[in-house]
Amino acid sequence: MGVSSTFFDRAGGQPFFDELVENFYVGVESDELLRPMYPKDLTESKSHLALFLAQYWGGPRTYQDLRGHPRLRMRHAPFRITKRARDAWLVHMNEAVAKSSSSLSPDDRADLLAYFDLSAHQLRNV
Ligand code: HEM
Repeated sequence: MGVSSTFFDRAGGQPFFDELVENFYVGVESDELLRPMYPKDLTESKSHLALFLAQYWGGPRTYQDLRGHPRLRMRHAPFRITKRARDAWLVHMNEAVAKSSSSLSPDDRADLLAYFDLSAHQLRNV
């Protein structure tokens, strides 16, 4: 692929993000601290996160069409994101990346992990 390819394309498109998010939510479902923050039915939660990530990494702007501007800090304001909650979220996401990223180059995998680490730190609100 040429120099202008996006992470989204290199990762394999939407199926990569769908699988990543499925794996992430397996961790959330068994997490006593995080699970109660999410709705009972996780279908929409999965779809919003997968579409958001796809858009962020250069895919189609479907998230924006459905949900508007991401405003992640504002959307997370209703939840108590303590250091412990943030760290739990990151554990599940790091595990999901480990499971889902066999097709990523080392550089892309490192960029993805660094992005999650930084954005999770920014979303701590307690
Ligand atoms: C730091 C720990 C985090 C916690 C505890 C957390 C928790 C949550 C919860 C409870 C929801 C609501 C789910 C729903 O109503 O369906 C949510 C939504 C969302 N979160 Fe997080 N989150 C965290 C970090 C992140 C990070 C780092 C990102 C992005 C890289 C992110 C992206 C999103 C997106 C895109 C949504 C859906 C927004 C929408 O409604 O359109 N979250 N999060």
